[in-house]
Amino acid sequence: MLRAAVLVSGGGTNLQAILDAVRSGKITNTEISLVLSNNPGAYALKRAENAGVPHEVLSPDSFPDRASFERALTERMQAENPDLIVLAGFLVKIPAEMIRAFRGRIINIHPSLIPSFCGRGFYGLKVHEAALKRGVKVSGATVHIVDENLDSGPILLQKAVEVKPGDTPEILQRRIMEQAEWVLLPSAIDGIANGRIPYGEAAFAEAE
Ligand code: GRF
Repeated sequence: MLRAAVLVSGGGTNLQAILDAVRSGKITNTEISLVLSNNPGAYALKRAENAGVPHEVLSPDSFPDRASFERALTERMQAENPDLIVLAGFLVKIPAEMIRAFRGRIINIHPSLIPSFCGRGFYGLKVHEAALKRGVKVSGATVHIVDENLDSGPILLQKAVEVKPGDTPEILQRRIMEQAEWVLLPSAIDGIANGRIPYGEAAFAEAE
């Protein structure tokens, strides 16, 4: 049984897709052992509560400085010791120490086809604004392993989504969520839990 912790900051629609998939059996062999948010007001916490999943807040505001927050986050994860950490809209840069401690075992969903529209400054609506500005006809989402650099780790899954005439960033964001993100993230977790997708050290071996 794969024990997964899901880290969230906001609405938590990706978390909801994961919880629904565990309940419906689209994700098997997996237990969501913890949902953790840096933001006490995140609606994602309510979703965890409704699903009866352990959830907690670790807010940077409760720490004297960034370094102590980062240390506490890393230590909390080490104490939890999940097999997999899923970033589902977690708007915190993962501390290097935590990435080292969980090498190949942290995955993230990014709302574009990496390597397009990713890296520094590309988050939330900005990703879709940039895609529309460039005039791409296809965008999508990517699930990748988190390494030391932003959006640069091995790619696990990608799904393309059509850009349509008249799209606004909001409309495109919604279509990418519905058609790609909410499908891809549960599918990546199920693939990892059932040995179809390599993770940990093996994820890097495969990519090289
Ligand atoms: C999603 O667009 C995801 O790709 C990005 O952050 C957003 C999170 O949305 N990393 P939600 O909180 O899952 O609704």
